[in-house]
Order: sequence, then C-alpha cells, then structure tokens
Amino acid sequence: MAIYTGSTKHLGGTEKVTMKEQYYYGLVQKRVLVIGATGQLGSELKEFNSEHKSMFQYFYTGSADLDITQLDAVRNYIEQNSIEYIVNCAAYTMVDWCESDVEVCNAVNHFGAENLAKAAAEFNCKLIHVSTDYVFDGKANEPYREDSPVNPLSVYGKAKLRAEEAVMSIAPNSIIIRTAWLYSSYKVNFVKTMLRLMSEKEELTIVNDQYGTPTYARDLAEAITVILDRAESGEWKKGIYHFSNLGETTWYGFAKKIKQLSNIEGCQLKPIPTKDYPTAAVRPLYTVLDKSKIQNTFHFTIPHWEVSLEKFLNKLREENKQ
Ligand SMILES: NC(=O)c1ccc[n+]([C@@H]2O[C@H](COP(=O)([O-])OP(=O)(O)OC[C@H]3O[C@@H](n4cnc5c(N)ncnc54)[C@H](OP(=O)(O)O)[C@@H]3O)[C@@H](O)[C@H]2O)c1
Repeated sequence: MAIYTGSTKHLGGTEKVTMKEQYYYGLVQKRVLVIGATGQLGSELKEFNSEHKSMFQYFYTGSADLDITQLDAVRNYIEQNSIEYIVNCAAYTMVDWCESDVEVCNAVNHFGAENLAKAAAEFNCKLIHVSTDYVFDGKANEPYREDSPVNPLSVYGKAKLRAEEAVMSIAPNSIIIRTAWLYSSYKVNFVKTMLRLMSEKEELTIVNDQYGTPTYARDLAEAITVILDRAESGEWKKGIYHFSNLGETTWYGFAKKIKQLSNIEGCQLKPIPTKDYPTAAVRPLYTVLDKSKIQNTFHFTIPHWEVSLEKFLNKLREENKQ
C-alpha cells in the first residue's frame, strides 16, 4: 500500500498516514485510471474533466506510460496507484491494418483487455471497457440491442468480441460500452478528413450503403463520467450497453451534413456502393445501435448525431480562430 506524506494536522497528528487511513477519514478522492488517454475518447474524457469539477482523481495513460499488453506492468500500476476504477479507451483501431497485423491487433484488442480484466478482478477495481459495433455482421434491419446475436466480420471485430467475452468471464462486474463511428477534436477521424478533402478536391465519392450513427466522443466521455458518478452513489449497473448518438445515416449522409454545416461550396459529393470502395476489412452494412438500455439505466438523454456534429463543428471553428 502506498504511503502519502501530506499534512495530517486535521487528524491531530503529523505522522504519515496510509492510503487506507486517508480513505477512512475521507481525505482522498476515488482514483480512476483512464487507459488510452492519448486517443480520441480518452482525450475527450480528459478535456471534459479539466472543465468540470469531479469527485474523482484521474490518472491518464497512453501506451508509452502503460502498455496494456504487459500484465505485470498493468498490475503494478494499478496496485501502486491504488486505482479503483479503470476506463479502458485503448485499442488498436486501424481496422484495415488489423487484417494483416493480426498479432498486434489481438495483443492490444483482445489480450490487453483481458489483462485489465485480470487486474480489475485481482485488485477489486470496477472496469468500464469500450467496445465496438463491429462485433455485429450488419445483416439486421432494426437497431442492434445488447443481446442481439454477434458475428464479427473482421479481425478487429473478432478481437474486440473476444475481449468482451474475456472481460465478462474474468471480471463479471464490469461495464462494457459498445460504440460506433467515433469522431472528436483529437487525432484523425472522418469529420476532420472530410473537412480537409472537401477543401482540396472538386469531387469526393463516399459510400452510401453502410448505415450507422456517428458518435461525438465528447458525448460518450460525458456519459462515462455520469456512469462513474452514479457508481459512487451506489448505482453500479454491470453489463453490456450501447452508446452512439441518436438517429442514423450513411457515410455519404454524414459527409453531406458536414459539408452543409460547414458552408462548404464547390466540392461535389457522389454516393457510391461499398463494392466500389474495397477495403481490407469487411465492414458491416448496418450497425445502428439501440441505446434505450443505457439511457434508461443511467437516466440521461443522448443527443441526435446532427446536433452533436453541429456542436463539434462550432467548437472546431472557435479553436481555429485562436
Ligand atoms: N474510432 C472509432 O470509430 C471507434 C468505433 C467503435 C468503437 N471504437 C472503440 O472506442 C475506443 C476508443 O477508440 P478511439 O477512436 O478513441 O481510439 P484511438 O484514438 O485510436 O486511440 C487508441 C488509444 O489506445 C492506446 N493504445 C494502443 N495500444 C496500446 C497499448 N498496447 N497499451 C496501452 N494503450 C494503447 C493509444 O495510445 P498511444 O496513442 O499512446 O499509442 C491511444 O491512446 C476503442 O475501444 C475502440 O475500439 C472506436
């Protein structure tokens, strides 16, 4: 157990107190480790927390700080920092590269998550693990529920599904959140790429037969903080949940909205079928997620994707002015 040397005057003494004693006297906040904090979702979580008061003390790690493929490193970090909640935003997300880079994909996306589950079970931490809509095969014609049959089509989707199974069997008290089509202020994503290409090209061809819902990573980050807050009020509701923004569209529809909301003229957008845009990884054609479970369980309302996209584009515009 780590020893802390802060003032103990209010305890009537000057001696060092253990972490356990600090908890007892209510002197320390609960400790949350956000893994993958250099990625889109992790960075949005960090930004959100920097702007809002929290009852938690957050620790943020990228792969250079903590490599989740190394079980001992994970165990040591969690033990030494007395972590109580783990939020796993880490993944190898280059879906097409995963098809050829199978070993790395499995190491991070499957075994990395499994290591976190092992450490969570050993040190009695609550784990929130982030997963993907790519666990589905996209053959449904109504929004996927948490208990809909899974059947991943890609190496990435298969590794993420094995991670879910490992988390649920090793640390069954965990929460898994499947999300989809993430974009954010950070790293490269569809919105930022479209904005760049629309300013460079006269015409863009975009897939119009893959249906899903874009997700502003900041909305998911906020949802995760709500889930953590609820946990501290004794409402930890383990299980699988779906989170994306509300509504549905195609990549073409998404691009059209980006163009319209950004007042871009001149770049023609042309819808094409998936067969005209071959990729290494097979994408599911339909991954709209049913979000009623997460909304009803944690009592929040998820914004429509168009509302969040507009909010994001306004933020980007403000940041670019500075
Ligand atoms: N992006 C999407 O459209 C999408 C869609 C559905 C689900 N998801 C899921 O949502 C979650 C967040 O995705 P994201 O877009 O925020 O990911 P991202 O931007 O690609 O970031 C990935 C994060 O994982 C970290 N990471 C990679 N390998 C690691 C390792 N061995 N040890 C520790 N950390 C490692 C990276 O750290 P470094 O940068 O420091 O290397 C980075 O912080 C993931 O679970 C992903 O599968 C994403």
